[in-house]
Amino acid sequence: MLVRFRLNGRDIELDVPSNETLIDTLRLRLKVKSVKRGCERGECGSCTILLDGRPVTSCMLLTPQVNGRDVVTVEGLEGDPLFNQLVKSFIDNGAVQCGFCTPGILLTAWAAIRENRFRSVDDVARYLGNLCRCTGYIKIAKAVWNVASGVRK
Ligand code: FES
Ligand code: FES
Repeated sequence: MLVRFRLNGRDIELDVPSNETLIDTLRLRLKVKSVKRGCERGECGSCTILLDGRPVTSCMLLTPQVNGRDVVTVEGLEGDPLFNQLVKSFIDNGAVQCGFCTPGILLTAWAAIRENRFRSVDDVARYLGNLCRCTGYIKIAKAVWNVASGVRK
């Protein structure tokens, strides 16, 4: 199937099998390796991308489903002020260890902060469903809350 979509501001046109998942298209065809392959059943969040600005798991999407839509990975947020604040806060708070979960969490948090979803660090902890094997979540929630509380509307 011929599929056209935007990836990080770039027009993409590909001929893909109708049953190809977006994570395979991104990682194997387009070499976007920040999109991580974890559970492959929509549970861990490591393959999260932004689709039209909303976080979704790319292992649960077929590539033809993104035809005509806007896909963003962490590479597409380079230079974005909110994204840069989040990255700095993750480093300052020790919220990254192996980094496997980090791109998906950054994208999820970025979208949620823009939607003004958080009123407390507990809100952050409840909202982020992404799995992390290393940090124990408290540092991640704190890193996100530090940014969210600074930009609250
Ligand atoms: S790899 Fe997609 S949710 Fe886990
Ligand atoms: S930092 Fe290793 S899985 Fe989260």
